[in-house]
Amino acid sequence: MQYRELGRTGFRVSTVSFGAWAIGGTWGAVDDAESLAALHRAADQGVSFFDTADVYGDGRSERLLARLRKARREPIVVATKAGRRLDPHATAGYDRANLTAFVERSLRNLEVDALDLLQLHCPPTDLYYRPEVFGILDDLVQAGKLRFYGVSVERVEEALKAIEYPNVQSVQIIYNLFRQRPAELLFPEAARRKVGILARVPLASGLLTGKMSRQTRFAQDDHRAFNREGAAFDRGETFSGVDYDVGLAAVEEIRPLVPPGQTMAQLALRWIVMAEAVTCAIPGAKRPSQVDDNLAAADLPPVPEATMGALRGVYDRRIRPLVHQRW
Ligand SMILES: NC(=O)c1ccc[n+]([C@@H]2O[C@H](COP(=O)([O-])OP(=O)(O)OC[C@H]3O[C@@H](n4cnc5c(N)ncnc54)[C@H](OP(=O)(O)O)[C@@H]3O)[C@@H](O)[C@H]2O)c1
Repeated sequence: MQYRELGRTGFRVSTVSFGAWAIGGTWGAVDDAESLAALHRAADQGVSFFDTADVYGDGRSERLLARLRKARREPIVVATKAGRRLDPHATAGYDRANLTAFVERSLRNLEVDALDLLQLHCPPTDLYYRPEVFGILDDLVQAGKLRFYGVSVERVEEALKAIEYPNVQSVQIIYNLFRQRPAELLFPEAARRKVGILARVPLASGLLTGKMSRQTRFAQDDHRAFNREGAAFDRGETFSGVDYDVGLAAVEEIRPLVPPGQTMAQLALRWIVMAEAVTCAIPGAKRPSQVDDNLAAADLPPVPEATMGALRGVYDRRIRPLVHQRW
């Protein structure tokens, strides 16, 4: 396993870490025993960072992470998120009373006295023009409820605004072979300010493993069935906002570029950490075999320059015109 420091937090984070959305819910059926086995497999192999949210399975994901942490001796950083319990999900809801209540609930679910890293969970854009919200987060740090805070964003512009607040330690954003814009302006600026980058949806919801086809069927309670057009939340979170058939065609162009002995998931993850501004990729995994496949990416040699160029070509031709300026 390889490690990078997360911003100015002092956290030593595995470059391939763990995204714990799917083990909470909204991805078809999951089994807690299998989810816990996947979490332990990750920790066994040196994963030191786990990303979750209070809404993943309405706390189920956080509670699984509490069980993991209690069973392990090594230091484990858990990043959670707040904001999506608001209904309606509006900027005005990010007030002191609500944020404090969300934090207290996550503290109970995670069974800790202080949250390692709290991220605002993709709030509306205008929140980033409300310094008072960041003041509330500073107060929660002062009160010992949070060690650090950061943001999870939909758009590059939101991230650029967020990191103007001096105590924002991390930005979580979609960055993968189908979502390359963050590397242009955000990564240099985040590196300059020593802000960590958490690359989410690194496998484009599984498309970039190369296992899907037009015949693949998803359960009704899997967002890959019900959120392709953004019916429930931002459509960028499902297949990175790439039309499914377009994504499948791009995957077929990527397939011959996968180096012998590697899987497409490994290439996709190794490509992400080629960007030095990225602290880690946080692939979701539901079972130990997926963890094994994904974590092997961390120790692979760099992606060869010619492959980097060819992957860029696939993006430029097939994906860029559809998504580049949208997020
Ligand atoms: N708004 C936000 O802040 C936000 C939004 C989205 C995600 N996130 C975070 O980012 C993390 C990662 O994103 P994501 O989970 O949406 O997408 P992802 O990591 O791109 O895809 C994860 C899914 O791909 C499949 N998969 C993973 N590894 C595989 C492998 N080696 N072989 C075959 N299939 C594999 C699994 O689903 P199947 O087995 O069912 O195919 C898994 O659930 C989340 O868990 C969450 O922590 C945050």
